[in-house]
Amino acid sequence: MTRDVRVLPDADAAARSAAEYFVEAALSSVKRRGRFVVALSGGQTPRPMYAHLADDASLREQMPWSRTHVFWSDERAVPPEHPDSNYRMVYETLLSAVPLPPENVYRIHADEPDLEESAERYEATLRTFFALREGDWPGFDLMLLGLGADGHTASLFPHSPVLHERRRLVRAVRPANPGPSRITLTFPVLNHSETILFLVTGTEKSEVLRTVLQRDTPSEDLPATFVAPDHGRVFWIVDRSAAERLADADSRL
Ligand code: 6PG
Repeated sequence: MTRDVRVLPDADAAARSAAEYFVEAALSSVKRRGRFVVALSGGQTPRPMYAHLADDASLREQMPWSRTHVFWSDERAVPPEHPDSNYRMVYETLLSAVPLPPENVYRIHADEPDLEESAERYEATLRTFFALREGDWPGFDLMLLGLGADGHTASLFPHSPVLHERRRLVRAVRPANPGPSRITLTFPVLNHSETILFLVTGTEKSEVLRTVLQRDTPSEDLPATFVAPDHGRVFWIVDRSAAERLADADSRL
């Protein structure tokens, strides 16, 4: 199976390439549909990408911010001001520096007492925003994902029962490893996106990147292998460090 993997010299070049694609996707979506609906990932990898969108005038000024709607792929069960909050990370690196209308920002309220109820509420927000009928899935223009060293993406962790969720759009997750509970979009939502972009950098991701890209079938050991867009496309922007083990696998990609 061929993969669309773009290898950039270093993490900042990868972040900038992802930011440039983000602008292209936004302009194309607004031209075709009058809006750009994106789900952002958390963690550390996308920070420099968000910073490029905020700090680089040539990117920031091209963006149709008033037509852009920002959701999250997942969130930790912490308050929005908590250092682990994906909302806080995106706010600090991007939202605080660009003219995106606050009503276009759809935070996952994972800091409320009843996590299941928060997940149901986010699901209701998606159903309303996308005007979904029963059995419909939201169509994100862009789903930005990261890759954990254990092969997880969003908050879809190895061997989690949520990997097999095919009815709900949003689920609460209690990860096996230590750390806060989470709320995550489910794979049918990820896979119904028009474009899925994985941004992966760093030597520590080289082995998991190689194993994920080489698999042709989903594996509960590597949840990112469940990403297979129904009708859209998935591509990868990686730096040379993350790609260092791909050279010998090229023939099998
Ligand atoms: C999160 C992310 C998660 C992340 C990976 C990679 O909430 O942590 O959504 O899926 O993308 O864990 O994280 P790093 O970018 O920090 O390596």
